[in-house]
Amino acid sequence: MRAPSTPSSTRTSALGWQSLARHFSPLLLFDGFAGRGHYEGGEDGSPILFFKRSAEAVEAGRPAQVFIRCVELNPHNFADLQRVISELRHPGVSIDARRGTFSEHALESATRLRGWTTVPPAFWTADPYGFRVCR
Ligand SMILES: C[S@@+](CC[C@H](N)C(=O)[O-])C[C@H]1O[C@@H](n2cnc3c(N)ncnc32)[C@H](O)[C@@H]1O
Repeated sequence: MRAPSTPSSTRTSALGWQSLARHFSPLLLFDGFAGRGHYEGGEDGSPILFFKRSAEAVEAGRPAQVFIRCVELNPHNFADLQRVISELRHPGVSIDARRGTFSEHALESATRLRGWTTVPPAFWTADPYGFRVCR
């Protein structure tokens, strides 16, 4: 993945999610095309941005708990992503990653959420580079 800087769509997604965070807890954040966790220049990718913004929101007393699920198809990117998120810790924020396609894991997560007594509000992101390859 090459990008000169964090895409503005990713920053916008992180900001859009923060408005949800003011009102609901727990929250689920589904990063459907998560990438490696960072860009080649070292800039934070969407999983790190979402984790940091979640930790800030929890510390500000808004949601008590945020669950972040990342999905990444490419095995090399997935290995990097796992390394990156293994270093992220916060008592109010949990983050994990699954390898596979957006669609299979979105379906699995949506099916599992139906089993919750109260379905938490969820913020889902799909490929910030366009929908043409979404599967
Ligand atoms: C543009 S990059 C991710 C950028 C990242 N969301 C960010 O903002 O930092 C897109 C990623 O989606 C992955 N990808 C492509 N097709 C996918 C699919 N069908 N399901 C899940 N991930 C996919 C690619 O391997 C790549 O790492």
